[in-house]
Order: sequence, then structure tokens, then C-alpha cells
Amino acid sequence: AATLIHDDINDAGEFRRGREAAYKRFGTQRALIAGDFLFVKSFKLGGSFDEKVVDIIADACTSIAESEMLQIIHELDAETSFKEYIKIFEGKTAKFMEASAMIGAYLAGADKDRISMMGMYGLNVGIAFQIRDDILDVVGDTAQLGKPAGSDEAQGKSTYPALLGIDQSRVLARQSVDQAPAEGLLVIAAGGA
Ligand code: IPE
Ligand code: MG
Ligand code: MG
Repeated sequence: AATLIHDDINDAGEFRRGREAAYKRFGTQRALIAGDFLFVKSFKLGGSFDEKVVDIIADACTSIAESEMLQIIHELDAETSFKEYIKIFEGKTAKFMEASAMIGAYLAGADKDRISMMGMYGLNVGIAFQIRDDILDVVGDTAQLGKPAGSDEAQGKSTYPALLGIDQSRVLARQSVDQAPAEGLLVIAAGGA
């Protein structure tokens, strides 16, 4: 929630989950503070488990900040390389899902191998999620998405569809899902490690 409140300020996204974005409704100053408030709450919650959980969350959060900065640097840059884009987009979304999957496995008492397998699972699902999010920004409509369609293009954001076209983006999303270790799905389906 914290990242999305801040993300809508950065992207000038006017709707989120079908409602007015927080900064539109309450103003940028309040939305910034609310985002910070939620970040700190999440670290406090992580700290109520242990250091390792805080460590994983902190790595994911710094990774988001770095990627968001990189994305801004590359706005309207037609020469953004595919490698650069992967870095942006693994960092801003997929790392978060990697962290979530790892924390779940860690807290369930999984061994090191299984934690990293779950991380791989989260990372790959996260990559597929972000590609799909970018495709929907092109082909979806605002009412259905609950957030503005077409905003990536309007802002000159480097996205998979912008770099590779829709069809190739769909292929890559599918490949990421296929690369996610199947055991990850089984673990989730079984409700734990
Ligand atoms: C949001 O990325 C990911 C975060 C850093 C929280 P996007 O800007 O691509 O996502 P939407 O389309 O606004 O949800
Ligand atoms: Mg964004
Ligand atoms: Mg956004």
C-alpha cells in the first residue's frame, strides 16, 4: 500500500483500485506522509518476527527505490536497452514478490534451498505480473483496471510492450511463469512449506 500511494504520486496516476488515488483525494503532502507511515509500520511488523524478515523487506524496498529512480532516468529515452528495462522492472515489482515468497517460506521454517526456491518462484511470477500489468496498460480499459489505462505511454515509460510489442511481451510473460519452479505452486497450494 505504501509503495502504491507513492507510485501514484510519481506516475500522476489518478485512480487506484477503482477509487481516486490518495494524493488526488487528500493532497500530495498527506499522501507522502501516509506512505512513509505505512512503510515504517511494515518494518515494525517485520521486526516483530526477526532480523532476517526485516533484512528481506529492506532489500526489496531499496530495490524498488533504485528501480523507480532508474525508470525516471529512462523516461522518454527511446534508447533504453532491454537489459536496463529488465533491471527496472525486476527491481520494482518482481523483487517484492520474491521477498514475499521468501518470507512466507522462512517463517514456515523451510530450509535454505526451499527458501531460495520460493524466492525464484516469486521473482518469476513477479516478472510475469509486471509484463501483464504493462500489457493491460495498453489493451485494458480504465473501468476494468480500476486505474488509468494508457498512463505508461502518456508518460513515456519504458515498458515491455513499448520495447518488444504486445505479442512478444505475452510470450515472455508465459516464459517467466514456466520458469517459476512448479514446486512453489505446490507449496502454496498445500498452504505452507
Ligand atoms: C508500481 O509499478 C510498482 C511499484 C513500485 C509499487 P507501476 O507504476 O508500473 O504500476 P501501476 O500500473 O501504477 O499499478
Ligand atoms: Mg510506477
Ligand atoms: Mg504507476
